[in-house]
Parts: sequence; C-alpha cells; structure tokens
Amino acid sequence: MEFETLAVHAGQEPDVNNGAVMTPIYQTSTYMQDGVGKARAGYEYSRTKNPTRLALENCLAALEGGGYGLAFSSGMAATDTVLRLVDSGAHVLAGNDVYGGTFRLFDKILRRYGLNFNFIDTTDPENVAETLSPQTQLIWLETPTNPLLSISNIQAIAGIVHLHPNHPLLVVDNTFATPYLQHPLELGADIIIHSTTKYLGGHSDAVGGAVIVKERVVYEKLAFLQNAVGAVPGPMDCFLVLRGIKTLPVRMDRHAENAAFLVDYLSSHPKISRIMYPFHRSHPQVQIAKKQMRNGGGMISFIMQGGSASAVKVAESTKLITLAESLGGVESLIEVPAAMTHLSTAGSQMAVDPGLVRLSVGIENKEDLLADIQQALDKA
Ligand SMILES: Cc1ncc(COP(=O)(O)O)c(C=O)c1O
Repeated sequence: MEFETLAVHAGQEPDVNNGAVMTPIYQTSTYMQDGVGKARAGYEYSRTKNPTRLALENCLAALEGGGYGLAFSSGMAATDTVLRLVDSGAHVLAGNDVYGGTFRLFDKILRRYGLNFNFIDTTDPENVAETLSPQTQLIWLETPTNPLLSISNIQAIAGIVHLHPNHPLLVVDNTFATPYLQHPLELGADIIIHSTTKYLGGHSDAVGGAVIVKERVVYEKLAFLQNAVGAVPGPMDCFLVLRGIKTLPVRMDRHAENAAFLVDYLSSHPKISRIMYPFHRSHPQVQIAKKQMRNGGGMISFIMQGGSASAVKVAESTKLITLAESLGGVESLIEVPAAMTHLSTAGSQMAVDPGLVRLSVGIENKEDLLADIQQALDKA
C-alpha cells in the first residue's frame, strides 16, 4: 500500500472485543493472567507492552519501511535508549549541527559514562570516512539539522560506514523530514529516531519519541532496553500520535507549500543576510536534498543582518506566528535558537549565530502568514 493509506491504517485493526474503529486508549498498567505466568498475547505489564503503544509502534515501522518500531516518552528518551546500545569506551561520531538537547545528552551526560564523541561536519561524507576509528560503534546523523537545516547524504555515508569492519550502527534522526519526505532505512541507515512531539504528532499536544529499525537482532536489544530503562509513553500520548499520523501526508504537503511561499519573500529581504531552506537554490546541499527528500519541509531558518537584537525583535513582533519552542505543529511558531532551544550549545563548538531565527511554518493561510512576517520584519 502507498504511504497515505499506511498513514491512516497501518498497525490498526478494529478492536477485537467490540469493533471500535479507532484504536482504544488502553489505560491500564497491568493485565489479568489466565494462570501463573500465563499472560494473554504477551501482555503482562504496560512498561513492557501496551496495545495502544503497539499499534503506534507497528504503524511507525510500516511508515519508515522498517521491520520494527518502538515508542518512547520523548525524542530524548528514544535517543538515550539507542545510545545504550554502545559499550563504555566506544567512539561515537555525530554531526556538528545536531539538536541542542542531543548535543547536551552526548556531551554533558554520556561522556561521563566513558563514551567518546566527535562532532563533525557530516555534510561532507569524506569527513565521516576520515574520523571513523576502530572503536567507532555508532554514527549519529540528523538531516535536515535543527536549526541550520544542513543536509547530509545518507546513502553516501551509509556506503562508507558499511565498509567499516566493526559494522557500526548508522542512526538517522528523521524528525524534520518525517517518513513522508525521507526514508533513511532505504538509503542504508540501520536505525531511525524521531521526536514524535513534532510533525508525527503534528498538533503540539503530546511529547513522544520513536525508534524504527531494520534488523530483528537490533530490535531485540532495543526492546530489552525499552523495558529495562522504562522511558515509555502512556497510552493517551500514543493515541494522540497515532491520530496525528493519519493526516501527516496532507499536513506535510501544506507545510512545504507555505514554507516555499515564505522563502520566496524572505530570500530577497534586505534585513536578512542568509536564508536556510533545503529546497532553495542557495542551499549548499540542495541537490542532495532534492534527491533524498520528497519536498523541502516546513522549517525555515534565517540570519538577521542586525544580529541578536533584530532576531529577538522579529520573534517578539509576530502576532499570528507564536513565539515558542518546538516545531512541526499545525500552528506556525517562531523562535531564536541561540537564546531558546539551543541555549545549551552556548560557548561550545556547536554554538549558533545569535542572529538566527527559526520558523516552523504551519498550515494556516499562506497570505496571512506572509502579512505577519512582513510586519514583524518591518519592526526589526
Ligand atoms: C531533531 C530533534 N531531535 C530530537 C528532539 C528531542 O525530542 P523531544 O523534545 O521530543 O525529547 C528534538 C526536539 O526539539 C529535535 O528537534
């Protein structure tokens, strides 16, 4: 079946007990057993398995073209659980423009457990080839990145990584693209992670994360960790993400249409020194973006000529577009990464330009959005 059909139906059957068409919110922590150690269909305890969560996990696996899906209580919980696949002393290679929270987890927490990280520019696959070491167990890519929307060539990097004798795992954070725009597993990745808080949920009403894998052996390790560590989502949040996913293709097309319309305006604005959008002609990796993504997505970043003060002024002057962290919801959001989402990178090699503004373009009327951003830029 095609993606749009899978988004509505995958992993979801009418309820066997009563025919409910929408997956029920199985708000239960435990399950009656038919005898000691005789659980029905493997349901013993909801940290281990829950029917609403399972429907979401199977839906995510189908959308990413993977064998198996696992849902988590946040994108960071998904990331943390995946990093527990590697051994103390291992080397991990990560992009130098990953989400600030990912950098914080790697740099401030996991280093303390003996992991060695290199944050490199993965937009050039050669940098990956040069930095791989005999100790490398995992490569972490985010593409497009948050907040600079840089693109890494997944297929080229997978080719390099798979030649490595230790078979390190190639992980792709597919949050910005979503499975509607990009299929990292088909391009050679081993693991995909998502913050389902963003486009998959799509309505800014739930925090969640996901991991999708190709191979059963990796899935079994992660399912063990999911249960042992316990960073699982509740059934209500799983229901909300499942419901959001049903409209993902429709929303993503509108996000991209609106974003392209705003990019046209912003790219020639005299107060903006640089615009970042994966499908814009000025983007340094536009050709790769067009090869591995269906459309340019709904995120735009731009740098104000006037630096930090102008960026803050624009972000504080929009009326329809809400000043807030997060992204990927139906409503448009604006923020200044250096002072908000990426504050944790201040003073590090990952620090972002203080004049950078990030826009999550929603699905409102594009003329209304343009009028709002125009009046905000006039004030900056
Ligand atoms: C690309 C990316 N990955 C991971 C995360 C973390 O997800 P969560 O906030 O759901 O923990 C975020 C959050 O903004 C993100 O933008």
